[in-house]
Amino acid sequence: MLPDAQTPSEVSPGSALTDQFGRPLRSLRVSVTDRCNLRCNYCMPQEEYVWLPRQELLTFEEIARLAEVFTSLGVEDVRLTGGEPLLRRDLPQLVRMLAANPRIRDLALTTNGVLFAEQGEALRAAGLHRVTLSLDTLRPERFAALTGRDTHAQVLAGIAAARRLGFPKLKLDTVVLRGVNDDELADLIEYGRGVEAEVRFIEYMDVGGATEWSLEKVFTRAAMLEQLTKRYGTITPLNENSSAPAERFRLPDGTVFGIIASTTTPFCRSCDRSRLTADGLWYLCLYAQAGIDLRQMLRGGATPEELAARISSIWRARTDRGAELRAATGHRGVLVEIEQLRQDPHLEMHTRGG
Ligand code: GTP
Ligand code: 5AD
Ligand code: SF4
Repeated sequence: MLPDAQTPSEVSPGSALTDQFGRPLRSLRVSVTDRCNLRCNYCMPQEEYVWLPRQELLTFEEIARLAEVFTSLGVEDVRLTGGEPLLRRDLPQLVRMLAANPRIRDLALTTNGVLFAEQGEALRAAGLHRVTLSLDTLRPERFAALTGRDTHAQVLAGIAAARRLGFPKLKLDTVVLRGVNDDELADLIEYGRGVEAEVRFIEYMDVGGATEWSLEKVFTRAAMLEQLTKRYGTITPLNENSSAPAERFRLPDGTVFGIIASTTTPFCRSCDRSRLTADGLWYLCLYAQAGIDLRQMLRGGATPEELAARISSIWRARTDRGAELRAATGHRGVLVEIEQLRQDPHLEMHTRGG
């Protein structure tokens, strides 16, 4: 049997809360909205979705209270995601509240960049540490085809703003789709070098929402390395021992880039992350079928100690390794069909944060 749950005060700094595989609870991804202003083919190919009811969204106070509980249990990294997080009104206010929590060492944001030029300054002033922007292509017409929107220039302006505002360790995320943007890897690396950002190439994942997924469309880590080696020569892996999903590599000229190979080389073994949806469900894995309703506990008057006890006993029992199990599946296809997604929008990647 698992040991009794600890309350926050009982968790001393050295005694990390770990799951069944010894993985600590260190990173929390907080989705602040399920809405998005793009319709990326790999994530939200439909125009209309079943959205979370507004009254069920956590308030900023509720998010900050939950963050207090999570950080008392060892969480140090908090990343705001969506949908598109900049669609949540007054986001800098939430950033200010979270930045006041001294246990959060890394407070980051993942955004598609469309609204970042407008909001970056307020977010920086509010205390946001870091930002990662998505950039799948350098070609405006390709962007329009991939996202269904004509806002490529705004994304580039967002990246320029992030640089101008001095956000450290800027990252650009590219989901690579075979036959769509797999001819742009080197161009994206060059662009990243120009804006002093680290580019990370992400394998197309068969997560909820990816209803157009097929194995043939995955441009694998191996294919990426082969293509980049042809262009640049020897590529050196940095072999860092970290829990981050990206493996990092160095080109002969010193430029560093990353590959996130969740589809062919899952990193579940070191996965220290969990996710909170905008309506307060807590998911232990990107692929988890069900989440734990923390909103109901919060609104039912649970104390921080009660929340901490629940969270820690659940984390201790955690055995999730969704991406590894998917990789072991013989006939890999779409994970969740559109009808099921309509019935339970929590299965969508855009609801549980990318
Ligand atoms: P940093 O390395 O701290 O910048 O964060 P990150 O890499 O976690 O952040 P980001 O939001 O940029 O995530 C990059 C990509 O990694 C996502 O778009 C997903 O494709 C993938 N990813 C993120 N979290 C998970 C996860 O929990 N499981 C799996 N399998 N893939 C994930
Ligand atoms: N495969 C890989 N990455 C995905 N993202 C969304 N859907 C997928 C998918 N099917 C990524 C976005 C962004 C982050 C929020 O999630 O590109 O980097
Ligand atoms: Fe973690 Fe699940 Fe992603 Fe594996 S698939 S890395 S366990 S969230």
